[in-house]
Amino acid sequence: MTALAVRHIAELCTCDPARGPAPGVIRDAALVARDGVITFAGPDAALDGHTVPADAVEIDARGSAVVPGFVDSHTHLVWLGDRGDEYAARAAGRTYEEIAASGGGIRATIRATAPASIDDLAGAARARARRMLRAGTTTVEVKSGYGLDHDAEMRQLDAAARLRADADVPDVALTYLPLHGVPDGDHSAYIDDVCERGVRNAASRAAFADAFCEVGAYSVEECERFFAAARASGLRPKLHAEQRSRTGGALLAARCGAVSADHLDHATASDLDALGSAGVAAVLLPGAALVLGGPPPPGRRALDAGCTVALATDCNPGTCYSESMPLMMSLAVATTGLTPAEALVAATTGGAAALALTDRGVLRPGCRCDAVILDTPHWVDLGYHLGGDVVRCVIRGGRAMVT
Ligand code: NIG
Ligand code: FE
Repeated sequence: MTALAVRHIAELCTCDPARGPAPGVIRDAALVARDGVITFAGPDAALDGHTVPADAVEIDARGSAVVPGFVDSHTHLVWLGDRGDEYAARAAGRTYEEIAASGGGIRATIRATAPASIDDLAGAARARARRMLRAGTTTVEVKSGYGLDHDAEMRQLDAAARLRADADVPDVALTYLPLHGVPDGDHSAYIDDVCERGVRNAASRAAFADAFCEVGAYSVEECERFFAAARASGLRPKLHAEQRSRTGGALLAARCGAVSADHLDHATASDLDALGSAGVAAVLLPGAALVLGGPPPPGRRALDAGCTVALATDCNPGTCYSESMPLMMSLAVATTGLTPAEALVAATTGGAAALALTDRGVLRPGCRCDAVILDTPHWVDLGYHLGGDVVRCVIRGGRAMVT
């Protein structure tokens, strides 16, 4: 491994609370790493021969801003098929639920995805993951969920794991999401299988277990049973909760000590209080809420309730086809009541918390050197320049990936 030094940074957003108010800005700064780990984050003028190794690759940021690499903590990246027809149908007035009830939605993607080979699945996911890296994402969570069948779910996890061999994509965290689409008729035989061989075989592949707790999907009781089996196998719970209606998923997440509760568009004040008290991260997906025309996720209210807030894309073929974390920051500020600084922290430190990762999301010595050099001196342009091409260079594990 080599060393890296990024010099002449106009605004280094450390997102480190020890560096003052969010996002912990150091002006006229430098960032140094060795073997992929940050060794210095501070004023450029403080650099000397000891802080910059002689063999360091030097990048001149030319007065740009630098922020931590984004941690996209909720995606459904592994899918085949296309649902552009549903997008157009919703624009003409059909609802997500009507489309699902007539065999479309998640079921349509399962039909296209479940039979696919690991090679084909990995190829489709890799193209999206590369776009994510180019937009500044250095860690991405990827869920299964388009299998509704044991072997198909495992192939989706294995396809996502293949991305780990590719240097041009974000680092990957895996989540087993077997309770997403619903089988016809009684759910119990499918859930039995998930709770027996499903969690056993997913545990060697994934870190987390997730379910879609919703009217028309899975009940609180079904999700709770799944969580007990998942936890016994070593998988840590996450939950799609209160997305389209209030079902009690957030309280389940709090009661089970889930790592995160995601969506929360219909969460009440007491739901958010419970998540805050239980230390469950609130993962907000403002793109999905916007696309479906529902209420925005509760950004300000979740922070006021003491929650750690994360922002994520939800990248999927139905509710939010986007790989862009900067766009999610724009939407979070415009629709959820977060300040630009809170949105940046949610997209970095918050995402790391939602994946229980303590080595990233902050630019400080000892953390992974995952960072984004922007094409502007002002970090606030990340959200302010709506849909803008704000990323100049992405540094992943101490290596400059895109220039
Ligand atoms: O997070 N709500 C459930 N799952 C996804 C949508 C998946 C799909 O429509 O294919 C979500 O919005
Ligand atoms: Fe989702």
